[in-house]
Amino acid sequence: MVDQRNIGVALVLFYLLLLSLLFKPTVEQRLSSSIEFTALFELRSSLGLKSRDWPRKVDPCSSWNGIRCENGSVFEINISGFRRTTVGRQNPRFAVDSLVNFTRLVSFNASKFLLPGSIPDWFGRRLLTLQVLDLRSCNITGVIPSSIGNLSNLSILYLSDNRLTGAIPSSLGRLLSLSVLDLSNNLLTGSIPPGIGALSQLQILNLSSNSLRFSIPAQLGDLDSLVDLDLSSNSLSGLVPEDLSGLRNLQRMVLGNNGLTGLLPVNLFRSPSLLQVIVLRNNSFTGELPEVIWSISGLNLLDISQNNFTTELPNFASYDNATAAVLDISGNKFYGSLTTVLRRFSSMNLSENYFEGSVPDFVLGNASLGTNCLQNVSNQRTLTDCVSFYGERGLSFDNFGPPPPESGKSNSNRNRIILAAVLGGAGFIMLLTLFLLLVLRVRTRRRVSHRGIDVGQVCAETTPPSPGLAINFSSLGDLFTYQQLLQATGNFTEANLIKHGHSGDLFKGILESGLPVVIKRVDLQSIKKEVYLSELDFFNRFTHTRLVPLLGHCLEKENEKFLVYKYMPNGDLLSSLYRKINSETDGLQSLDWITRLKIAIGAAEGLSYLHHECTPPIVHRDVRASSILLDDKFEVRLGSLSKFCLQEDDGRQNGITRLLQLPRSSSERGSSGPMCLFHLLYGRMYRNQHLLP
Ligand SMILES: *[C@@H]1O[C@H](CO)[C@@H](O)[C@H](O)[C@H]1NC(C)=O
Ligand SMILES: *[C@@H]1O[C@H](CO)[C@@H](O)[C@H](O)[C@H]1NC(C)=O
Ligand SMILES: *[C@@H]1O[C@H](CO)[C@@H](O)[C@H](O)[C@H]1NC(C)=O
Ligand SMILES: *[C@@H]1O[C@H](CO)[C@@H](O)[C@H](O)[C@H]1NC(C)=O
Ligand SMILES: *[C@@H]1O[C@H](CO)[C@@H](O)[C@H](O)[C@H]1NC(C)=O
Ligand SMILES: *[C@@H]1O[C@H](CO)[C@@H](O)[C@H](O)[C@H]1NC(C)=O
Ligand SMILES: *[C@@H]1O[C@H](CO)[C@@H](O)[C@H](O)[C@H]1NC(C)=O
Ligand SMILES: *[C@@H]1O[C@H](CO)[C@@H](O)[C@H](O)[C@H]1NC(C)=O
Ligand SMILES: *[C@@H]1O[C@H](CO)[C@@H](O)[C@H](O)[C@H]1NC(C)=O
Ligand SMILES: *[C@@H]1O[C@H](CO)[C@@H](O)[C@H](O)[C@H]1NC(C)=O
Ligand SMILES: *[C@@H]1O[C@H](CO)[C@@H](O)[C@H](O)[C@H]1NC(C)=O
Ligand SMILES: *[C@@H]1O[C@H](CO)[C@@H](O)[C@H](O)[C@H]1NC(C)=O
Repeated sequence: MVDQRNIGVALVLFYLLLLSLLFKPTVEQRLSSSIEFTALFELRSSLGLKSRDWPRKVDPCSSWNGIRCENGSVFEINISGFRRTTVGRQNPRFAVDSLVNFTRLVSFNASKFLLPGSIPDWFGRRLLTLQVLDLRSCNITGVIPSSIGNLSNLSILYLSDNRLTGAIPSSLGRLLSLSVLDLSNNLLTGSIPPGIGALSQLQILNLSSNSLRFSIPAQLGDLDSLVDLDLSSNSLSGLVPEDLSGLRNLQRMVLGNNGLTGLLPVNLFRSPSLLQVIVLRNNSFTGELPEVIWSISGLNLLDISQNNFTTELPNFASYDNATAAVLDISGNKFYGSLTTVLRRFSSMNLSENYFEGSVPDFVLGNASLGTNCLQNVSNQRTLTDCVSFYGERGLSFDNFGPPPPESGKSNSNRNRIILAAVLGGAGFIMLLTLFLLLVLRVRTRRRVSHRGIDVGQVCAETTPPSPGLAINFSSLGDLFTYQQLLQATGNFTEANLIKHGHSGDLFKGILESGLPVVIKRVDLQSIKKEVYLSELDFFNRFTHTRLVPLLGHCLEKENEKFLVYKYMPNGDLLSSLYRKINSETDGLQSLDWITRLKIAIGAAEGLSYLHHECTPPIVHRDVRASSILLDDKFEVRLGSLSKFCLQEDDGRQNGITRLLQLPRSSSERGSSGPMCLFHLLYGRMYRNQHLLP
């Protein structure tokens, strides 16, 4: 018995020896500075800490909770989640004065420990060794002292979930080592100081749930290391600057619950994008969602709900397999059919949009589909709602019926289809020419026999052009402000440029109402003002269902003028004939012959109207596939209306030759040849005022 106990004691002693060898307590681990020893006890009493956490008569470095020392000095103080003594709880204060006596303090973590009061100003002047300051959920009030900007070694600053007021001090822009800046969930006001954009090490920027105002400073785009950007729930407003695209390493972009407007800059999502989370919910974004978002491979949460995005889903499947990804696009104006881009999302909220058509089986599982225009789904919008939404955009609604049969979907047939399209295109142009000749001849004859009767019945105005600038702007659609057009086109970004036309650059845009439009920007430094004036004058006099509708104009800028047209969903004839192949899965859709015939007749009608029903007759002068625009039903609307010429003489018998005539040089002006509208208008005025006696 005795022997056994001795052996036991020996074993225990042996293990203790082994343990003490393995975890050799260094001499330095003991607190060697008496000043710091005193300071710890002062802190213990000023905060009212319990002796269970920080007991007397033992070495603080080795035995106190949350104290770490190095070389005999206090290195880290972590009172996170501690509870105060009963006495301490009676008058809790932000009383940490003795911290100044820890000359090596690197980290102070008091999260979830109530420190009612404000952050002392001396923090920024005395705790210069600090690298980590975590004061989350401490019930702190007052402002963030600007002296904090002196803590040049600070790399982690958490002040979230407090009641901090005032502005974010711009001095924070001096904390060049900062990798985490979390000021979320406070009562901060004012704007985001641009200096934040200089913090090149920053990985997490969380300013969400404050009352910050104004727009996002462009300088944030320089945050090269940023991984998390959370600016949700502020009063941020205005456009998201494209400069944010400098955030190359961004993984989570959270901008929800702000007043952000306009189009979402495509550049924000430049590939390769590392984004995993995009939350833009509850803003006022309009227009299209950049298609590239759908091909970000690592995306697992896309929440753009409660905005005004107005767009169709693209028709490609970047990732065929369902992932755990979550999609919420509810409360927008998405329309068209549900496409294969949805396939990768395992959970999706598509409700409160205007989707039409049938629901594909990869959507049926975990999707909210309410309040749309879908077939065979309960709780959809009314027929009137859907028809009027689609109608406003010049689209036809399927009336909850089966979709029209699709053609040319098969991949294997692609080459044949391309061939057919090319031949068809050539044939079509011949057909069009024939038709023009035919129609013009027929009309010419009729016209000659009814001379004077049908003239002026169709044309809105038949009075000869008055000498002088008599454009009635009120009949030229809405008056847009420059600001509205900036918003509609996302500051005229390259991405929205349709083409550089001869009379101005054409941009695609979305008005605030969600209506897609085409905006022509006429730069008066490179284009003569006659060009847009003659076009305006043209629209002032003539309207016809075969002409592209002018919705409005903006003439407030001195050097740039803007004309706003209705957007033609099917583009121009050129692009419809040779429609682009979207992706491997999407077949080439070429025009069928019925449609081709319809376009030929439409174009002929438009030209015939100009040439025969307007007085004086008008020559289009720019007839080509790209000026023949097509609405959603492939009805022709003629565009490129700035090159029109009036024909002064009544040369009807010679219509065809004139139509094909090249514009004459200005030296021939005044003769019987075609005369540009402007010259007619302004030439006369000029002559009247200066040349003629
Ligand atoms: C101190 O901080 C660490 C995280 O850095 C945490 O896990 C721990 O619970 C905190 N509290 C104490 C008393 O050590
Ligand atoms: C502690 O002392 C050792 C040796 O004197 C030194 O190498 C180490 O850097 C010191 N640590 C700190 C935090 O000062
Ligand atoms: C502070 O302590 C808490 C534990 O209560 C921990 O979760 C947090 O990560 C710590 N802060 C830092 C910056 O390490
Ligand atoms: C810091 O330590 C010195 C020396 O012990 C002491 O006089 C001073 O009061 C301490 N300061 C604070 C704020 O505790
Ligand atoms: C800041 O960090 C650098 C490098 O780690 C160090 O040399 C310097 O002493 C630190 N500054 C302060 C005030 O502790
Ligand atoms: C924070 O302080 C306010 C008043 O100073 C107090 O009403 C509130 O209860 C405190 N919050 C917590 C979590 O103690
Ligand atoms: C700390 O910052 C404040 C204001 O940002 C400045 O006035 C002060 O001179 C700085 N103090 C030190 C010691 O750097
Ligand atoms: C930002 O802070 C809020 C509130 O404190 C939190 O809910 C959110 O998860 C944080 N965002 C990120 C990206 O860390
Ligand atoms: C939407 O954002 C506004 C602030 O822009 C906020 O007041 C409102 O509560 C948010 N709504 C929802 C449902 O989050
Ligand atoms: C969307 O636009 C409509 C009108 O165009 C407006 O009434 C509505 O408030 C907008 N919604 C959002 C979330 O901005
Ligand atoms: C999808 O799944 C198939 C097999 O189930 C696999 O071969 C393919 O690589 C997966 N695609 C992706 C993008 O993960
Ligand atoms: C889908 O979105 C709508 C509108 O935003 C919301 O009312 C509904 O609760 C959401 N459904 C789910 C399953 O989250």
